[in-house]
Amino acid sequence: MTLTNSPDPTLEGLLEQARQAALNSYSPYSGFRVGAALKLNNGEVVSGTNVENVSYGLTICAERSALVRAIAQFGPQIRIEAVAVANLNAAASPPCGACRQVLAEFILPDAPVSFPAADGIRTMLFAELMPLAFDMKLK
Ligand code: THU
Repeated sequence: MTLTNSPDPTLEGLLEQARQAALNSYSPYSGFRVGAALKLNNGEVVSGTNVENVSYGLTICAERSALVRAIAQFGPQIRIEAVAVANLNAAASPPCGACRQVLAEFILPDAPVSFPAADGIRTMLFAELMPLAFDMKLK
């Protein structure tokens, strides 16, 4: 199922927090300013932004930046109920594969993930975005 252009006010609020976080982006190498906001099952929203590094490969994406902040603040028992991603570059930016794998550890499978796509804000369920994340459990 792919949900598009939801008028959900909760989603709009989450997107706004992602946009606000993107204002703090440290992205001198790419100029691509990304923000992410996570709605947690404890009622909190935690945001993050991309932090680049001169080595390039040590760059941390906005989604992982938000996730590590959430764990640091609230502990590893929290679960992510929704994700919003925004960028200030008027470009598409679905979460990268590395971020999907890291999110998989803490996100509910039916959590909606909203991100800028070519046709506007697109919302997909996490399980749809990351159908077969690496996991050592035999389910
Ligand atoms: N970036 C993110 O923050 N999230 C993504 O999911 C994809 C890419 C950042 C990393 C880098 O700072 C810039 O965007 C260009 O790739």
